[in-house]
Amino acid sequence: MKKILTSILSLGLACSAALAADAPVNALKVTDSLDGITADSALWSKAKFSEVTLYPQTALKMNDKKANDMNAADKAKKAEVAALYDGKNIALMVKWADGTKNIQGSYSSDTYSDGFAVQFAGTTKKAEPLPYIGMGSEGRPVIVHLQKATASVYEPNGNKDVETQVNRNQTNLFGQELKDYDAKVASLAKTDYERVFTAQGFRSLTEIKDGSAKSSASMTYGTNGWSGTLSRPLNDDYIKSNGTVPVAIAVWDGSKNGRDGLKNLSSWVAVNLEGMKPDAKRLGEITEVSKGDAAKGKEALATNGCNGCHQITAEDPASVMAPSLKNVGGYSTVAYLRESILKPSAVVVPGYNRNAHSNTPWYTIEKGKRISAMTDYSFLDKKTVEDIVAYLKTLKAEVE
Ligand code: HEC
Repeated sequence: MKKILTSILSLGLACSAALAADAPVNALKVTDSLDGITADSALWSKAKFSEVTLYPQTALKMNDKKANDMNAADKAKKAEVAALYDGKNIALMVKWADGTKNIQGSYSSDTYSDGFAVQFAGTTKKAEPLPYIGMGSEGRPVIVHLQKATASVYEPNGNKDVETQVNRNQTNLFGQELKDYDAKVASLAKTDYERVFTAQGFRSLTEIKDGSAKSSASMTYGTNGWSGTLSRPLNDDYIKSNGTVPVAIAVWDGSKNGRDGLKNLSSWVAVNLEGMKPDAKRLGEITEVSKGDAAKGKEALATNGCNGCHQITAEDPASVMAPSLKNVGGYSTVAYLRESILKPSAVVVPGYNRNAHSNTPWYTIEKGKRISAMTDYSFLDKKTVEDIVAYLKTLKAEVE
């Protein structure tokens, strides 16, 4: 019996290990300008859509029980991604299923909106390894373009028109007067929530507000889902492109109180620009498949006590000692997993609530640098590390 079980298990591991990274997206070269392109542009009709898998991000747990409960059983989502480029700009379209259209209202602080983000790798002296998927890391910046579905929000625009900054329910207007009031608010309002951020590790997310990051994003709701588009320069102060542009995609579900880290996230995906030579190094890093033995890695993981700190699969109890690894194989590259074992402090996932769990901080600060609480496993031999990496790659939720 035990033997049968083991072989079923290793078969399962072998199958999921075969599910390697998502295939590269091919960006079609077009002659028309992509400046300000939206989902209804005819240019998309020629683009080929590729599947990209988005996993529930479980590295960080939010300090919001209701939201955590709503998302506890989450599965991975499939998105369809297409790309175009015109020599100067790159444009991406992301289509994903979402049965409820959630738009952030102007005066409600307890509702959340649907949204999406596209992340690019920022320029560094050394292009590899790629930055940490959600936030970048020291010396390895990311640029994040975020678009949320928002209703008209009146934002004080410096014209001292204070009477329209009042919740409509608290005005003494009704009938036509209230309609006129709503129309005025809408005309003054900012309707588009489009932001660009840069980050070099957790707690360093900074919005770029000086106009140096140009982009144009929009969201359109259709039958059971969203189409989001983004266009941005191929080269600017933040990114330098060659034949392969690494991107990562995230989506938020407002109906499940999704916000901040509570999202579905892809691993790095390669976008190859048609007619240009792909960047072999970057492509290699993104699509690398571990040559380790996942079944042996599962054993090595137990022998080395990884599960003493980490939740490994959804069946294991949750842990406050370290991030859950139950989806880590979905949104991490092989290179990142290898580095996490050999150099735990290269990227430090900070933990969501140091005050609530002050006895189990995920890092300490030494000479201004964050040092991971994880054991340094650089003593492990290469083969064991590869086996563990191969097993970690199998840790991911099924697609819904
Ligand atoms: C003493 C507790 C402890 C042990 C034992 C431990 N880890 Fe960790 N691990 C952590 C902590 C804390 C973090 C978060 C800080 C950081 O990013 O280094 C972490 C982070 C990670 C990450 C990055 C997770 C992410 O979401 O990006 C991976 C992967 C990982 N560990 C794998 C392992 C493996 C594999 C082993 C066993 C060989 C192991 N850990 C053993 C505490 C531990």
